[in-house]
Amino acid sequence: MATKAVPAQPARRLEGYIYNTWYLAGWRSDLDTKLSSVRILDESIVVFRTEGGQWVALEDLCPHKLAPLSLGDRIGDCLRCRYHGLKFAGDGRCVEIPGQSVVSAAVRVRTYPIVEKHGGIWIWMGASERSDESEVPDIIGEGDSGWRLHSASIDVNGSAQLLWDNLLDLSHIPFVHFNTLVAGDQAAAAAVLAGEVNKDSIVHDRGITVERWHSHQRRPAQVGDDRPLDEHIVTDFFAPGVLAIRFQTYDAGICDKYPSGEIPDEKRLLSSFACQVVTPVTETTCKIFYNVGSWDKSPPDPTLGVANDKAIVEDKQIIEAQQGAMRANPGRKPMMLSMDQNVVRFKAIMRRLTAQEADFAAVAD
Ligand code: FES
Ligand SMILES: [Fe+2]
Repeated sequence: MATKAVPAQPARRLEGYIYNTWYLAGWRSDLDTKLSSVRILDESIVVFRTEGGQWVALEDLCPHKLAPLSLGDRIGDCLRCRYHGLKFAGDGRCVEIPGQSVVSAAVRVRTYPIVEKHGGIWIWMGASERSDESEVPDIIGEGDSGWRLHSASIDVNGSAQLLWDNLLDLSHIPFVHFNTLVAGDQAAAAAVLAGEVNKDSIVHDRGITVERWHSHQRRPAQVGDDRPLDEHIVTDFFAPGVLAIRFQTYDAGICDKYPSGEIPDEKRLLSSFACQVVTPVTETTCKIFYNVGSWDKSPPDPTLGVANDKAIVEDKQIIEAQQGAMRANPGRKPMMLSMDQNVVRFKAIMRRLTAQEADFAAVAD
């Protein structure tokens, strides 16, 4: 009986996104023990770990009668479909059809390159032959030695592209996060705004690095007393939607004491890191994987994770409201102001990257 070969590429590509890149499917601790169904760029993928410890990502669709494979069971290094029991190996080949002695090589499912790094499981959504493990985003995650991190994720009923805008313009902090990240302190909120206005931006091939100070912040529990703090913050935001933030915290006034900008290491009270990795789920929904933590030698800071969890929910709420308002007003276009400089720059980067991908695809065809 004739069977169709499995297409290597999706039938429909989401506009504005790149495919030849790694997307975070989940933190390892979320995916470790089970057969998980994840959705990335509107494609359903079943992720599991073989008995031998290899990660596998297959299209979550049995080629027989199109039942989701994620409903099935892992049998050793294979996955058995729950409906009629077809068994698939990690390379996508069907290795057993109950009641049938011959298995055609055409009975197979699409596989995706998958890799574990920085405590996360990353899936390459484009052409397999172009996948390159060295291109996994350079974040700090669970398992990277020296860091104590709190990791979590949240579903957002809004597009990944709205999240990009949010993460590229932190001037929303004094408003959206007034009661969390700036602890309800008007002077601290004003200082954050001043830092965001006076930031230095460097545009790279795939993203933007921004450096700024947030002075006179008040986070009483952060270092065990209520001294005001100055924070030096470097953010890297890069395709396909990863924000990595490195914080160095000092007693307030440190810049006046060291006008050269070369501050001795021993003056630092805390080194911390946070990241937000945005994975597009569908055209209008996404998932944020995030973590936050401090360098081992810094004093323990239990407030970091709590404040971060609350702040992420605040972002989710404003993005979901924004997505709803945009849906209700389809003819209206957002306005770009000076605070949106990096938003505009990043959109140009993404236009270039998506156009380059279209060129590669045209050559491959
Ligand atoms: S649908 Fe999977 S075995 Fe029939
Ligand atoms: Fe935010």
